Amino acid sequence: MNLEELLAIQKETKQKRQQKPKQIRCCIASGCLSCGAESVKKSLDNAIKEAHLEQEVEVLGVGCMGICGRGPSIEIDPETTLYHNVTLENIPAIITSLNQTKTSENLPPQGDLNHPFFAYQKLIVRENSGKIDPDNIDDYIAEGGYQQLHHVLLEMTPNDVIKEVTKSGLRGRGGGGYPTGVKWATVAKMPGQQKYVICNADEGDPGAFMDRAVLESDPHRILEGMAIAAYAVGANHGYIYIRAEYPLAIKRLEKAIQQAKRYGLMGSQIFDSPFDFKIDIRVGAGAFVCGEETALIASVEGKRGTPRPRPPYPAESGLWGDPTLINNVETYANIVPIIREGGDWYASIGTENSKGTKVFALTGKIENNGLIEVPMGTSIRTIVEEIGGGVLDQGTVKAVQTGGPSGGCIPAHLLDTPVEYDSLQKLGTIMGSGGMIVMDQDTSMVEIARFYMDFCQEESCGKCIPCRAGTVQLYDLLTKLVERKATQQDLDQLEALCQMVKDTSLCGLGMTAPNPVISTLQYFRDEYVSLLQVT
Ligand SMILES: Cc1cc2nc3c(=O)[nH]c(=O)nc-3n(C[C@H](O)[C@H](O)[C@H](O)COP(=O)(O)O)c2cc1C
Ligand code: SF4
Repeated sequence: MNLEELLAIQKETKQKRQQKPKQIRCCIASGCLSCGAESVKKSLDNAIKEAHLEQEVEVLGVGCMGICGRGPSIEIDPETTLYHNVTLENIPAIITSLNQTKTSENLPPQGDLNHPFFAYQKLIVRENSGKIDPDNIDDYIAEGGYQQLHHVLLEMTPNDVIKEVTKSGLRGRGGGGYPTGVKWATVAKMPGQQKYVICNADEGDPGAFMDRAVLESDPHRILEGMAIAAYAVGANHGYIYIRAEYPLAIKRLEKAIQQAKRYGLMGSQIFDSPFDFKIDIRVGAGAFVCGEETALIASVEGKRGTPRPRPPYPAESGLWGDPTLINNVETYANIVPIIREGGDWYASIGTENSKGTKVFALTGKIENNGLIEVPMGTSIRTIVEEIGGGVLDQGTVKAVQTGGPSGGCIPAHLLDTPVEYDSLQKLGTIMGSGGMIVMDQDTSMVEIARFYMDFCQEESCGKCIPCRAGTVQLYDLLTKLVERKATQQDLDQLEALCQMVKDTSLCGLGMTAPNPVISTLQYFRDEYVSLLQVT
């Protein structure tokens, strides 16, 4: 493959897509598939054939459109009409509506693309999601895919690439928010012939499905981002570590890798340059702790996935002892636009210390459940009340949980806080990987804390005692509270134990496991006190 061939595929695919005046795009990502999108797409295919409209209408399976709570969703172009909750009964009406002269009844509910849910978003990571067929490399190429890899390999030095990523101010989206450019520069500086890049697609936080959607909707974006990273740090081999619970994402990634290999975009001497790069997939067995980087590395090596003390960090001694770059899916998904538009462009979006956009999985007691991508600095209130459409059944927001088991709850009176790494941390929570769960007036915050502690005690790998025994003790104390059997002494013990587990655990799981308890105690202490046994 050379640039001319790449551009020829881009042109041909665009022309092919324009040949048919109408296009029906059906979401075939997990959210919509779980409510019947596959049969909706098949039915549409059949109906188009029966109506002899194949020459005029193309039915395309695409990735996630974002509004996951209202699937199956379809979008019809060129009018850009969006339909939600599509059923098989709606298909004849949809076919009739394709002919503008006829009106049709029994159409599914129509989405409003001017609604803040769509209007307030800024799509960088998800720019191709819901638009291209994730199973077709040509569709990705039609959107300019693999051109940045070409640009990097033939026109930039590894150092130029790192400079651009550093300039962008991108921080890792896996939870810790470590500056991506600094991490890349560290791996690049390490001596040694053999280096690795890893994509962390373990995504185990309850309520989080951002990475799954990106992988299911635009897998080549991750492959291209990883290849650019590998060139920058001097690696020639990559691994995608992905949880077994994501079979569709795995299938699409496997297909994408095969297609990239067939086109010579993966393998040896890519674009006739000296750069060789291949990617293998490693499927995790569903342990949350395997998302922790040292546990992940052990798991890829075929060992039990338990963390080890750092340093040494993976950048110095990672996979099989070699320098290794580990980044999250969303971090890699930002790379192509950063190279294409420049680091300065990316840094112009967001806030002083949190650049670019962030994808959130907005769930809970909210009207518009789904995936959103907003500029950093957008307030939680805008996300919940405008984009999310507010609480279900005219309820009120009590709190918003961010950061999953490592995070905490933001009470309603602090909803004007902007989403940024630092501002959320100041409130005792974290942005984490992007789970955002809205809770209404009827939610028990002690129950919420107990839910996360239940998760952590189950997921603790057991390697160190503070976490292994401490999370169980914390869970038991919270249960005692919920059952109204706890005393003031138990509450004091709960607080002391939170601090002890935080301070003495070996890895991030244990260090952050008490956070949901600490933050709910901070903002909702009266709920804990009201549950104490009356003596
Ligand atoms: C218990 C635990 C689970 C984690 N799970 C994930 C995960 O599922 N995905 C992820 O990208 N990072 C996860 N992380 C963070 C990673 O260890 C690592 O910091 C991250 O992958 C680095 O990528 P980034 O710099 O692009 O954020 C987890 C950390 C801990 C402590
Ligand atoms: S903190 Fe928990 S998960 Fe981490 S090593 Fe210790 S026991 Fe394992």
